[in-house]
Amino acid sequence: MTEDSMIGRELNGFTLQSRIGSGATGVVYRATKGDRTVAVKILNEALGHIHALRRRFEREARALGKLQHPNIVHIEDFGVVDDVVFIVMELLNGQTLEAVLQRHAIEPGRALSIMRSVLDAVGFAHEAEIVHRDLKPANVFLVHEDTPDGEVEKVKILDFGLAKFLSIDELSKEGTLTRRGRVVGTPAYMAPEQITGISLDLRADVYAGGVLLYELLADKRPFDYERRSQLLRAHLFEPIPTFAEACRGLVVDERLERVVRKALAKDPADRFPDAGAFRDALEEFDASAVEFTLSEPPERTRSSAGTSSVVIQPDEREALTSSDDVKVPNGDDKEKAEAKDSAEKRPRVSSDAPTEIDEEPPVHSRSSLPPEARKSAATSTSTFPPPGQGRSSPWLTAFVWLLGLLCLGGVGFAAWYATTLP
Ligand SMILES: Nc1ncnc2c1ncn2[C@@H]1O[C@H](COP(=O)(O)OP(=O)(O)O)[C@@H](O)[C@H]1O
Ligand SMILES: [Mg+2]
Repeated sequence: MTEDSMIGRELNGFTLQSRIGSGATGVVYRATKGDRTVAVKILNEALGHIHALRRRFEREARALGKLQHPNIVHIEDFGVVDDVVFIVMELLNGQTLEAVLQRHAIEPGRALSIMRSVLDAVGFAHEAEIVHRDLKPANVFLVHEDTPDGEVEKVKILDFGLAKFLSIDELSKEGTLTRRGRVVGTPAYMAPEQITGISLDLRADVYAGGVLLYELLADKRPFDYERRSQLLRAHLFEPIPTFAEACRGLVVDERLERVVRKALAKDPADRFPDAGAFRDALEEFDASAVEFTLSEPPERTRSSAGTSSVVIQPDEREALTSSDDVKVPNGDDKEKAEAKDSAEKRPRVSSDAPTEIDEEPPVHSRSSLPPEARKSAATSTSTFPPPGQGRSSPWLTAFVWLLGLLCLGGVGFAAWYATTLP
């Protein structure tokens, strides 16, 4: 169906009037119902055989409709009419953060304020266990509102939970929903576990939020490769460049930098547990946390590579981790070292040490432990003898025998002497 044939069409009483824009997941129209004007998003059917998933779609959309927050676009209605799947939203007046960032960088105070609003919204959804899954500047809408205090900028998050719905393939023969492992996401913002297809939770949004904050502060994303496979691999294996490495002359308060790096940890366990915790960690920072030491602003290098939502099939994801040149992830070693102090590591290593002998551990496993752990392993030898320690040395054996013979001789001599006494 062409876009023109959609104009004038009526869906649940909303008449499509004009096209606002389109993206990878659908086309958005301005629509009216009586004197009300709304935005209607028609989902791209090719993405998910959605017509076969009507009930699932309705359930998801209903849940999203309940997500009422000042920083989340309000879903008013939704439906499926003749295979056209649509969502009716409040009509926003403004532009996406992506459109703004394509033109110019954002000053740090405004960047932090936008980020706090984004995390307020995502944190609110996280309380209801709803994951956005596709957080990025194109899904952050900036609305300018006139208020008695002047014009204010308001943030509205778009496309909540849509990626999850679009990731589902089709109905199986038994009529249940199948997920063959394809993923809908945006390569530049995808968390490692989202890429590999390992279980995904609220912390995938924390990672995407980390990329967003990094980008707002550095005017550049942590990884910027044209090739999709390279970009995805970078999320999996490459360390996050420091702000100083990313942008000459950029000085970010080291505590703020630590917050960003924690959000971007490869291992979800090392990240903030949810967007609310990430938001709290940003509370203390204002524009003074970010400085440029050069008089001239750096040349802009922000690209739009990998910023559209895409479908990633299971075989593509497998290829990322199965080729011979792929090393075991070590990119976050540095981050882990920062995130956890050594005191936290010590008890972990020693408490991991077995207290009973099941199997003799390989020698190198202990010699590779940090000194404290080696000490703790050595002090627990009564229950955990290292190999070789159960056998006594031959010199010790000879000494014990000699001592035994001397004792015996002594006792014998004493007995003989006693018999010789009158
Ligand atoms: N509620 C809305 N009000 C006004 N414009 C919107 C609304 N939702 C989306 N848009 C605009 O429609 C276009 C397509 O956006 P979107 O549906 O998010 O694309 P994508 O498929 O890439 O997610 C964008 O320019 C976006 O700004
Ligand atoms: Mg979108």
